Amino acid sequence: MSAAVNDERRGAPEPWGDTVQVEFEDGIAWVTLNRPDKRNAMNPALNDEMVRVLDHLEGDDRCRVLVLTGAGESFSAGMDLKEYFREVDATGSAAVQTRVRRASAEWQWKRLAHWIKPTIAMVNGWCFGGAFTPLVACDLAIADERAQFGLSEVNWGIPPGGVVSRALAATVSQRDALYHIMTGETFDGTEAARMRLVNEAVPAERLRERTRELASKLASMNQVVLHAAKVGYKVAADMPWDQSEDYLYAKLDQSQFADQAGARAKGLSQFLDDKTYRPGLSTFDPEK
Ligand code: COA
Repeated sequence: MSAAVNDERRGAPEPWGDTVQVEFEDGIAWVTLNRPDKRNAMNPALNDEMVRVLDHLEGDDRCRVLVLTGAGESFSAGMDLKEYFREVDATGSAAVQTRVRRASAEWQWKRLAHWIKPTIAMVNGWCFGGAFTPLVACDLAIADERAQFGLSEVNWGIPPGGVVSRALAATVSQRDALYHIMTGETFDGTEAARMRLVNEAVPAERLRERTRELASKLASMNQVVLHAAKVGYKVAADMPWDQSEDYLYAKLDQSQFADQAGARAKGLSQFLDDKTYRPGLSTFDPEK
């Protein structure tokens, strides 16, 4: 991104404060879905705001890693049953339905899944239905071991909507996915970690500390290389092997071209010539 575009975004009013809160801490942007009285259910206003938040943070140097979480006792209770379903149905307008669905998809996976900076979902409580989409779109996820997850859609008369089922297919086994899609039973953070829906589950009192530790590590690393690595993985997952080999080599060349820090050359030199570090055990020193 050019400095001009970056400056323009930095100068623009910060597009959060209604249904989303953002706090910055040492390269980490803590992005909090903020409708605690509605258990952070995602209504059209929140979806619109999150699109703007992601666009803004993309060019905001205070954010090197994004952590997505929820205010109060909930990560998110999924789509807002009143404002996203009933009120949109009541308009009888296909155009309105298309618009609200587009904004929802736009941030929950289209922007988030390949976002320019690393993303971590910090699941602090209830996580239902539509909330599985941004959860899976985040690169990594850490949950409170007592957080409650559920694909509750069947409990109120619909199959999982949006790309929730597709997100499950990308992360958990068919047995675990269909069990929860079809029964609507809840499960806790410990079970979510066993299913690999999240990377790990920790006690509530360690959740923020452990998330900060992981986010800080990612914030300290080479951003160009991290972006190429994560997007390469996600895109190649849906490709045949021969195409993915060609694509991943192109991605590797692209990241070398884009990486002004010259990580590859420095890393090789520090290992092979200076013998100052071992790449298997730590990151090279970008200052040398
Ligand atoms: N959509 C709209 N409103 C929601 C909501 C949702 N998905 N989830 C919670 N709310 C609202 C409730 O209607 C209630 O509003 P009110 O105070 O105006 O009556 C408020 O949030 C608190 O909800 P409540 O059910 O009293 O809280 P709880 O802590 O007892 O239970 C949940 C929390 C998440 C278990 C429960 O709210 C629930 O089952 N939500 C629906 C989850 C769901 O099916 N999501 C799938 C959507 S795709």
